[in-house]
Amino acid sequence: MNTLSVFFIFSLLASLSIALEHDFCVGDLSLPRGPEGYACKDPATVTTDDFVYTGFRGERTTSNIFANNVTLAFADAFPAFNGLGISMARLDFGLGGVIPLHSHRTSEVILIVKGTIIAGFIDSNNIAYYKRLEVGDIMVFPQAMLHFQVNVGETPATAFVSLNGANPGLQLTTLSLFAGNLPGDIAEKITLLSHKEVTRLKRIFGTA
Ligand SMILES: *[C@@H]1O[C@H](CO)[C@@H](O)[C@H](O)[C@H]1NC(C)=O
Repeated sequence: MNTLSVFFIFSLLASLSIALEHDFCVGDLSLPRGPEGYACKDPATVTTDDFVYTGFRGERTTSNIFANNVTLAFADAFPAFNGLGISMARLDFGLGGVIPLHSHRTSEVILIVKGTIIAGFIDSNNIAYYKRLEVGDIMVFPQAMLHFQVNVGETPATAFVSLNGANPGLQLTTLSLFAGNLPGDIAEKITLLSHKEVTRLKRIFGTA
């Protein structure tokens, strides 16, 4: 067996490792989370309801600053995803609503179910790939790339995304810069924005 085949087999084993030990590993959120996710809930106590998530039902209000409403079904909200390397989210957009520039540790695929949005990502050469998407369209954002969605239709819009990680993370660039503990003077230096503009942005998020 050559080195490449050995490497391939080990990669396959690594990706299938949960299946070697368990059929599933519904996360036990009362135990600490490790690098591979949560420890497994005792299978004897697992029921069908553990495998069903109903949190995407109903309407959403979109009254925040971005006119969006994001419902995350990551492993902490839906522990059945733990160990399976998948998760989902529902994105709702009011008129003109946006999901601002953000990234995850994983890839993502989006499916538009209502309205019309422009979705896109920007690669590490600063090339933007973006397109107007209609109901039924899907688009993929490769792993870790900065991406965004903008409602450009005449109605509210809704989309669902799936990510290839149970806990893919969600890092919104604007919030990282202006809603957290990063001092404004550093934010000015690393963005080339003016003091006035950084202060305006920090005030929006209550940090100045
Ligand atoms: C999202 O919509 C739900 C249902 O209308 C609402 O309870 C919640 O406050 C909204 N979240 C945001 C951030 O607007």
